[in-house]
Amino acid sequence: MCGIVGYVGSSEKKEILLDGLKELEYRGYDSAGIAVIEGSNLNSFKAVGKLENLVEKAKSFKADSFGVAIGHTRWATHGKPTELNAHPHLGKKSYVVHNGIIENYQELKKELIAEGVTFLSQTDTEVIVHLFEKYSESSEPFEAFQKAIERLDGAYATLLITQDAPDTIFFAKHGSPMLIGFGEDGIYFASSDTAIIGKASEVYYLEDGEYGYAKGSDVAIFNKEGKVEFTKKPLSSDKVSAQKDGYRFFMEKEIYEQSTVIVDTMMGRVLDSEVVLDEIESGFFDGINAIKICACGTSYHSALAASYLFERMAKIRCDVEIASEFRYKEPLLSSDTLFITISQSGETADTLEALKMAKRAGLKSLTICNVDNSSIVRESDVALLTRAGIEKGVASTKAFATQTMLLWILAIYIAQLRESVSKEQIASEIEAMRHSPTVLKVTDALHSKIHRLSKRYLHGHGFFFIGRDLFYPLALEGALKLKEISYLHAEGYPAGEMKHGPIALADSNLFTVALMPKTLLYDKIKSNVEELSARDATILAISPESFELADDFIQTKYASHPMLEFFEMMVVTQLLALEISIRLGNDVDMPRNLAKSVTVE
Ligand code: AGP
Repeated sequence: MCGIVGYVGSSEKKEILLDGLKELEYRGYDSAGIAVIEGSNLNSFKAVGKLENLVEKAKSFKADSFGVAIGHTRWATHGKPTELNAHPHLGKKSYVVHNGIIENYQELKKELIAEGVTFLSQTDTEVIVHLFEKYSESSEPFEAFQKAIERLDGAYATLLITQDAPDTIFFAKHGSPMLIGFGEDGIYFASSDTAIIGKASEVYYLEDGEYGYAKGSDVAIFNKEGKVEFTKKPLSSDKVSAQKDGYRFFMEKEIYEQSTVIVDTMMGRVLDSEVVLDEIESGFFDGINAIKICACGTSYHSALAASYLFERMAKIRCDVEIASEFRYKEPLLSSDTLFITISQSGETADTLEALKMAKRAGLKSLTICNVDNSSIVRESDVALLTRAGIEKGVASTKAFATQTMLLWILAIYIAQLRESVSKEQIASEIEAMRHSPTVLKVTDALHSKIHRLSKRYLHGHGFFFIGRDLFYPLALEGALKLKEISYLHAEGYPAGEMKHGPIALADSNLFTVALMPKTLLYDKIKSNVEELSARDATILAISPESFELADDFIQTKYASHPMLEFFEMMVVTQLLALEISIRLGNDVDMPRNLAKSVTVE
C-alpha cells in the first residue's frame, strides 16, 4: 500500500503535500517524494526512508503561485526502497505517482524500451508516465492519459501532471482507493480522507474505473460509459474520528478492514492458476528441507497455523518457537532449515534477537512483516510484507489475518516448487483464497448478534477457547484477544487435551468457546464439546452445523474450505472480545499494561 496526494490551486503546495503525506505515512514509508509544476517551473524532491528525510530535503523550497502538485509515500512492492524507485516518476516533462500494482508492467516496459524509452527505476509505476508521453506525441494530454490508462491491467490509484498542461492533474482509480477533495482554495486528491481533513470541506470517493482531470477548479470524471455525474459528500473536520472512520475504536475499524486489506496482501501474488512471490529469488529454497518459525503473541499463533499448512501442503517439516524461549534454549540449528520470523511491527526485541541467533548459525531467513524498513525486515534475507496498513489497535487483528493469508500463500508457493500437491489442489486453494475477502466481511447481523450475546459473558470465572488442528492456534488467538482487552481470564486449548486435566474445571461458570468447523475433524470436536456439556460447562459453539447442546450458538456460513472457516471464526472471536471489552468499559485500543510493539525483553 502506498499513499498519494495531489493539489491544484494557489496555496503553498509543499506544505499541503507534506501534511497530507504525514497522514498517509501509515500506508508506507520506505521512501517519499513530491513534484510541483507552476507555469514553466518543474520541481521534484525524493528521499528514502521516513517522511522527515523528504521534509529536510525540501525545506528551502516554496511553491505558492498557481499550479499543480503531487506527492507519494511508498510501501515497496516492486523494486527496493531506493531514491530511484521513489515516486514521483519522471518522464521528459511529466510526473506520476501511483498506489497499486500494474500486473502487465513487464510487457509494457518491454514495448516501451523497444521504442527507445529509458527506464530509471525497477518499479511497475514508471510505465505509466512513459505510456502517457508516448501517446502525447499524437494526442492532446487528456486523450493521451486516457490511452495510457486503458493499457494498464491490475490495481492503480494514479495522479499525473505534465508541463503540457500546467494547470491540470490527471487521475484514474481502479482497485486502489482515491478521493477528490473540494476546498475553498483548490482541488485535493488523496488515498484517504485523513490527508485532507481541515483543507477540503467536501469529498467524492472515486469508484473503480473512474478517471478524469482537475483543471483549475473544474473537475471532470469519466468511466467507460462516458461522463460521470457525481455527488460530493461533506467531510468531517475531526481528524481522530476521521482516522477511525466512524468506528468506536481503531480495533473495530481494523476488524472491518480485514476484508479489504487481504486483497492488498494477495495482490500480484495470487494469480489465476498459481501463486507468485516476486520477493523470493529463484533458488532461494535450494537445500532447504525444514522450516522453523519464530514469533511472539498473535504472530506466534499465525506461525502455529502455518505449521499445519507447511506440513500438509508443502510436505516440509515445520516447527514453531516462541521467540523468548528460543533465545535461551541453546537450540540445535541446521543450515538446511529456513528460519522464518513473523512480526507485525518488525521491532519485537525477542523475535529480532532470535533472528540474529539463527543468522549467526548460518540459516537463511525470511520474515512476514507489516512494516517495511523495520529492524526485522532489514535483518532478514527476504521480507514478505503483509500490506495490512498501519495497525493502531494494540490487539492485533488485520495483521493476524494478513499474516495467515501470506503464510498460506507461502505454503502453496513451496508446494508448487516441491510439486508436493496436484495442480487441481493448487487450483482449489486459490479458489478458496479468492473467497477470503467475502468471508472476512463483517455483516451487521453477525456483529449485532455478538453484541447481544456478549452481555452473558462478563462475569464468569474464565473462558476456554477450544479447537483442533488449525483451529487450535485460532483458539489460542481468540483467548489472547479476549484476555488482552477484557482482562478476563481465558485460555486456548487443544480440544482433545481437555480430558487430560482441564475438564476438571468444567461447571456452569466456565465458558467454553468451541470452534467447530465442518471441514476438519468435526466429529472429534463435537465429542469433545459433548464431554464438556455433560459436565455442565456453558458452551458457546461457533459452527456451520447447529449444535443442540450449545447454550449459545453462532452459525457460520462458509464450510467449503478449512481456511475459509478459519477466517470466518477468527472474525467471530475478534468481535466477541471487542464487544465484551466495550461492555466492561475498557480502553479497547490501549489496554492496560500493554504496548503495540514490545521492543524490550
Ligand atoms: C497481539 O494482539 C498482541 N498485542 C501481541 O501479542 C503481539 O502480537 C506481540 O507482541 C508480537 O508483536 P509483533 O507481531 O509486532 O512482533
